[in-house]
Amino acid sequence: MTSQPGLRAAADTLAPNDLGAWWMPFTPNRSFKARPRLIAGAKDMHYFTPDGRAILDGSAGLWCCNAGHNRDPIVAAIQRQAAELDFSPAFQFGTPQAFTLASRIAQLAPGDLDHVFFVNSGSEAVDTALKIALAYWNVTGQGQRTRLIGRERGYHGVGFGGISVGGIVNNRKFFGSLLAGVDHLPHTYNRAEQAFTKGEPEWGGHLAEDLERIIALHDASTIAAVIVEPMAGSTGVLPPPKGYLQKLRQICDRHGILLIFDEVITGFGRLGFPFAAERYGVVPDMITFAKGVNSGTVPMGGVIVRKPIYDAFMKGPEWGIELFHGYTYSAHPLACAAALAALDLYREEGLFERVRKLEGPWADAVMTGLKGLPNVVDIRTLGLVAAIDLASKPGAVGARAYEAMERAFHEAGLMIRITGDTIALSPPFIVSEDQIGEIVEKTARVLKAVG
Ligand SMILES: Cc1ncc(COP(=O)(O)O)c(C=O)c1O
Repeated sequence: MTSQPGLRAAADTLAPNDLGAWWMPFTPNRSFKARPRLIAGAKDMHYFTPDGRAILDGSAGLWCCNAGHNRDPIVAAIQRQAAELDFSPAFQFGTPQAFTLASRIAQLAPGDLDHVFFVNSGSEAVDTALKIALAYWNVTGQGQRTRLIGRERGYHGVGFGGISVGGIVNNRKFFGSLLAGVDHLPHTYNRAEQAFTKGEPEWGGHLAEDLERIIALHDASTIAAVIVEPMAGSTGVLPPPKGYLQKLRQICDRHGILLIFDEVITGFGRLGFPFAAERYGVVPDMITFAKGVNSGTVPMGGVIVRKPIYDAFMKGPEWGIELFHGYTYSAHPLACAAALAALDLYREEGLFERVRKLEGPWADAVMTGLKGLPNVVDIRTLGLVAAIDLASKPGAVGARAYEAMERAFHEAGLMIRITGDTIALSPPFIVSEDQIGEIVEKTARVLKAVG
């Protein structure tokens, strides 16, 4: 009990169930607080409301709880770690777990992507990767390479670096002039050419060639890096057209430009492989990750870099810091313990392979169950992901999907993710075929109600 009377008095005046104080992120606060969607517990494929109602998780939380919820080995690892070592600095000191985890992640990554820099979120991972790219050119004598190339509709988190290379208008337009010297590739979506495609669309690979136009405009000698999500996720799920990522790699190679894959969503199994880089046979120079690394249990992210990038920094006096960057909670012991347990679980239960096996039945179930329902104008599927585009209500973009999400939670007992008028589905990898059916059936019910 506190001995400070002021604090005690303040605590005594807190009203029960007061939703006022928390300014919720990426949430319409007034609407939520009028009709809250409260979550109090979780296990495996379900969330539970405070009054015990089960909510089937159709979105793996926020694309992160890949192994399902409150899995015993991960819970036990976090509990053990909390009792053993709460925190230790990652500046100038290190834990055995952090080194082991870095090695395990490097083993999962393709090619010579074999050094890992730990951070605490996807946004930090992206800003870290962009900073490493700029610093890399500095330490290798090409400090004039400062331009960063992102893509329209890209989502790279909410740091200033991430929103600068990102291409989601509302995430950018309120926040000033952002980073200078950034350009954007066109996004890869064309409904007329791609509607209702399962997997990678046939049309659109040529859009990578726009990078040549951007390079011609600025000159390669000024460009540090290109960053893309292999599958654009948060904008509403845009699978890469066939050949697109391979072309980006070729063009970057031709001009000596670094290629960064933002795998915050696609990393750790979402497309059936440890990283999408492997699915597409493309080795980028850096991979950013977060979310699935420990199945969403403790904040953690990171950047995996190729050996030549790491090596370029390892010079100068041995007592001197090589990269002036890091976070207090980089490689936090709880996050590392959770990640090691999650990676074990992914391997023991074959969960990435399970995604590969489920990809076909998942795509079939979603297409068959939802195509033709009211307002459904496109469906895209890839790995264990699906997006359903709804026709917007006149003058109210996003209102229809918001109503669908509310109804899914309150009436159907299903958690879905929405962005604009797109519903994104991305269940944990332990989803059964019956539960896939249940997700589709509940979504269909909601779409009919909204229609
Ligand atoms: C591709 C990508 N990059 C970065 C982020 C940002 O991650 P965080 O919300 O952990 O900062 C996200 C989040 O969804 C993402 O999908």
